[in-house]
Amino acid sequence: MAIGSKIIHFSEIDSTMNYCKKLALSGEPEGTIVSTEYQNIGRGRFDRKWISPYGVNIQISILLKPKIEHLPYLNMAASLAICETTEMLTNADAFIKWPNDVQVNNKKLAGILIESSLSGRNVEYSILGIGFNVNIDVETYTDIKDIATSLKNITKSTLDKNTVSEILYKRLDHYYSKVTRGESLTNQWASKISTIGKEITVGFPGTKRKSLSGKAESILPDGSIQVILHDGTIFNASSGEVSISNI
Ligand code: BTN
Repeated sequence: MAIGSKIIHFSEIDSTMNYCKKLALSGEPEGTIVSTEYQNIGRGRFDRKWISPYGVNIQISILLKPKIEHLPYLNMAASLAICETTEMLTNADAFIKWPNDVQVNNKKLAGILIESSLSGRNVEYSILGIGFNVNIDVETYTDIKDIATSLKNITKSTLDKNTVSEILYKRLDHYYSKVTRGESLTNQWASKISTIGKEITVGFPGTKRKSLSGKAESILPDGSIQVILHDGTIFNASSGEVSISNI
């Protein structure tokens, strides 16, 4: 079933992730999208809040049922789809801050949250959540204006959210189809990662793991980032949060 062949839209909801999970548990087929104008308990990675004003941005969760070997490619499919949508609608180049923040001019344009349920090696479902800044004017929010952007801020004009959604769903379907056909997206994805070659710190919020600093060397086939630590040892991170060091 194609992504977006069924769309369930809410004016307000707690989180599209929660509703999509309910659909998964009730046997809804894959591809269904839950979207909303507003979430009162939207969540981001590392259990952070995801706050977005009513009506201006895209907030969706998509029910997927991938095979376990496809899981590493879900965030690649999503971030590539968002980059392409952005580049089709603006003159800007979009990049990915590893692992899956889409950025324009080093400012966050979209975030991706993936929650999967596994039973042994069987993926019961994966829920792909996307928060995409479309028409928010970040300049009016002093707390985020230096770190976030939106399609409106990039193009200096208000976009039709339905048009953006349609393009996004088509690009998501394109890339997810590649994933389910067993194609690796790693090379294409790696070419969009802005983090390589930079001095970075990888943190592990929500865990007791100490953060690690070094030079981001390369992307490995499964999407992990290889970091040469300051003591010369090699560290491969498959998850975490990157901050770019100012040295
Ligand atoms: C991130 O931390 O960057 C990921 C943010 C993901 C936010 C989206 S908005 C739609 C979906 N519902 C949620 O509660 N979160 C995701």
